[in-house]
Amino acid sequence: MEVLLGKLVEQNELDKEEIVYFLQHLTPDLKVRLFELAEQIRKKHYDESVYIRGLIEFSNFCKQDCLYCGLRRSNATAERYRLTEEEILECAAEGYRLGYRSFVLQSGEDFHFTEARLIRLVTSMKIRYPDAAITLSIGERSEAFYRALFDAGTDRYLLRHEAASRSLYQSLHPGMSYDNRVNCLRILKDIGYQVGAGFMVGLPGQTYEHLAEDLLFLKELHPEMIGIGPFIPHSATPLKDAQGGTVEDTLVMIAMARLLVPDALMPATTAMGTLDRLGREKALAAGSNVIMPILSPLKVREKYALYENKICTGDEASHCRNCIEMRVAAAGYRIELSRGDHCSFNRAPEKS
Ligand code: 5AD
Repeated sequence: MEVLLGKLVEQNELDKEEIVYFLQHLTPDLKVRLFELAEQIRKKHYDESVYIRGLIEFSNFCKQDCLYCGLRRSNATAERYRLTEEEILECAAEGYRLGYRSFVLQSGEDFHFTEARLIRLVTSMKIRYPDAAITLSIGERSEAFYRALFDAGTDRYLLRHEAASRSLYQSLHPGMSYDNRVNCLRILKDIGYQVGAGFMVGLPGQTYEHLAEDLLFLKELHPEMIGIGPFIPHSATPLKDAQGGTVEDTLVMIAMARLLVPDALMPATTAMGTLDRLGREKALAAGSNVIMPILSPLKVREKYALYENKICTGDEASHCRNCIEMRVAAAGYRIELSRGDHCSFNRAPEKS
């Protein structure tokens, strides 16, 4: 185990068998060391900074039917909503007032938001807030769409790969294609987006081999951002009786991802904060360095339920700002409100 830990820290590398062996033999003591080493390496690249992204969940309509997700189209109990362009811009304005310079626009796969509508939205945001970064997280679209939105000024794109094992992926995503998912990620990278990938921990049927494949997929893709969170069963989905992931197992994956892809920006996810009051702080101490407070209007917060009992659904944006600032400071870090680009990122100047 010492040899493997050494290799992980010095070469940022392990092969599949080594990762599986490592996970099988991880003791509580070794875990503590793993988290410490992950935290050290994150500090080497991003010091004590914790980057803030204001999250705007602008539609919960979704054409996909992912078995784990509360927004799946077959969930007839989900109360669907769409924010208007004005409402979205108002959320961004509130975030900007609070000092946020990085916004994530997220939704289910909702084709009501066409290329033209989204270009208008991104363009309006860029005109109002030229010093802010815009991230889209709206699922699979065409290459032409991704290019058009990049040309409109979108800086980043989040599209978790969800499961790097083809068979596990296919079992969770009826009607979707593993190859298309991976292809979307490669196209996004080629276009020049800062790209986020990632996966859930604790999916039914997920083994150490699957998790090793997820980590190696990330290592190979080398995304700028990596989102890893526990799977939390939703009562109106086919996986309602599944066990779900634990904070502890997710922390191990966060730390491993940090060591394998040392320069990634990695959120301490809301799902971690939902399972454990201090889940996000624990993630920061295991290598995460991003927090995404929710900016969506209070009236829709509970409706954006990928899973249930999500935290912060009743809190005003300004309250979230203070709460997060306090938590981050108490954990020994410093909030960083700037765009928070990847440390090696360099985009050609925006067209005017
Ligand atoms: N529990 C935890 N995370 C979930 N996601 C979707 N459903 C759940 C769930 N039940 C994650 C997916 C998706 C991201 C936005 O949220 O990984 O990519």
